Amino acid sequence: MIHLTLHVNGEDRGVDAPPLCTLIEALRDVLGLQSVREGCGIGVCGACTVLLDGHPISSCLTLAAMAEGHDILTLEGLPTLPPLHPIQEAFIKHAGFQCSYCTPGILLTVKALLDDRPNATDDEVREYLAGNLCRCGSYVKIMDAVREALTAQRR
Ligand code: FES
Ligand code: FES
Repeated sequence: MIHLTLHVNGEDRGVDAPPLCTLIEALRDVLGLQSVREGCGIGVCGACTVLLDGHPISSCLTLAAMAEGHDILTLEGLPTLPPLHPIQEAFIKHAGFQCSYCTPGILLTVKALLDDRPNATDDEVREYLAGNLCRCGSYVKIMDAVREALTAQRR
């Protein structure tokens, strides 16, 4: 076992884990952050997306040890009570989800998009979200919500 200190959602959290523990295992299984979801396990679906220093990454493909010394954000790091983050408000308003399995990863990717490309066009949004799959096929509603969040941020 190795001991890691992960900076998650603004706090240092100690993790004792095997050397090859993945970031999703450390976040979900050790730290109990259940918004980080496993889908494919091979970097394709985006369900396990977290932000590392503000950039979306697949936590299923990242060793926990590689994340030490970086800022990690999971959905638990966004507000859980009103006032919610404008992205959360937009997804609620437009019902940008059905089962919501994909939603934590998508919300975090959209957060990175707003920070990275505040004037993103629809094509740029689709390109940015290409790594986040929604098996329910809620893409039309997701696009509506992202447009709303971009507009809200520009106000
Ligand atoms: S579970 Fe990580 S990309 Fe699918
Ligand atoms: S809302 Fe069900 S997978 Fe996206």
